[in-house]
Amino acid sequence: MSDLRDLYQEVILDHSKNPRNFGHIDPANREAKGHNPLCGDQLRIWVLMEDGRIRDVSFEGRGCAISMASASMMTDMLKGRTEAEAEEIFNRFHAVVTGEQDIGDDATEDADGGLGKLRALAGVRDYPMRVKCATLAWHALKAALENKGESTVVTE
Ligand code: FES
Repeated sequence: MSDLRDLYQEVILDHSKNPRNFGHIDPANREAKGHNPLCGDQLRIWVLMEDGRIRDVSFEGRGCAISMASASMMTDMLKGRTEAEAEEIFNRFHAVVTGEQDIGDDATEDADGGLGKLRALAGVRDYPMRVKCATLAWHALKAALENKGESTVVTE
């Protein structure tokens, strides 16, 4: 079990130190800003939607290791997905990090549409403040997909 914890720790550190898809993609046709009111951290998400799929997605901003790692893994995972698939992953991720769904119940964890490396963030469920860090980028992405543009996302 501690091996798994170490591995997850490593995944989070790797993605927070070397975030994937960091920067402003151009062209992009959706964007939104995410704001965590508890700490003041903000990030911005850009999405290029084509034929109902996320062709490209990127982010910029500042935040703690958890928020940066989550944004990095999220952008990695969602490229090529349809809007419906992205929403499904969002819902599953949200349920896991808030503790609504036990991680062991996620039978599709490594299948297409499963959480994959995002499971590394499941530990935040024990720390309510950190749940907001882990979901910051996701709420911004949801706002971008819903075309809410500049709207600030207040994490729950
Ligand atoms: Fe601000 Fe985590 S402390 S996003």
